[in-house]
Amino acid sequence: MSALTPPGKIWWTPLGKDEKIWLIVGLVWSLFMFSVMWWWPVVGEQTTPIESYRIDPTAFFERVDRFIERYQIDSINGVPVVEPPVGGEAYIHARAFEFRPVLKLKRGATYRIYLSSTDVQHGFSLQPLNMNFQALPGYVYVLTLTPRDTGEFPIVCNEYCGLGHHLMTGKLIVTD
Ligand code: CUA
Repeated sequence: MSALTPPGKIWWTPLGKDEKIWLIVGLVWSLFMFSVMWWWPVVGEQTTPIESYRIDPTAFFERVDRFIERYQIDSINGVPVVEPPVGGEAYIHARAFEFRPVLKLKRGATYRIYLSSTDVQHGFSLQPLNMNFQALPGYVYVLTLTPRDTGEFPIVCNEYCGLGHHLMTGKLIVTD
């Protein structure tokens, strides 16, 4: 027998009873999960509508700079704090190894937040809600968000992006 000729005898053995039960349980469960997928977009309260567009990273960089210049109110450890117009547009720039700026938002207002990266792929994970998005160079995601609670919400990068990955954090501040 060589690798090219099939073995003469069937090499598997019939499934055991436990194995069969587990396969059926797994199949039924996965079909159930599949059948309720529509639930999240239709009923899920934290489903965030997302639009995405292509953008030139340099153009995005410049837009973020203009946005910060226009609406900056403060800074925390060198990171600008920006208060965009209530219910308006805002930007979050992910780059190694920071999210800039820190956004100050009003509770109950709906914002359009433009998220992109200008170097490598980063993750955007808003805590403690655990809302996760990707920040990709060349693409901008528009997150339509309406903060429901006040407080400070950390953003962490959850996509490995280099040596400073574990230091890459940001923040949203929501006030009344
Ligand atoms: Cu950015 Cu990990």
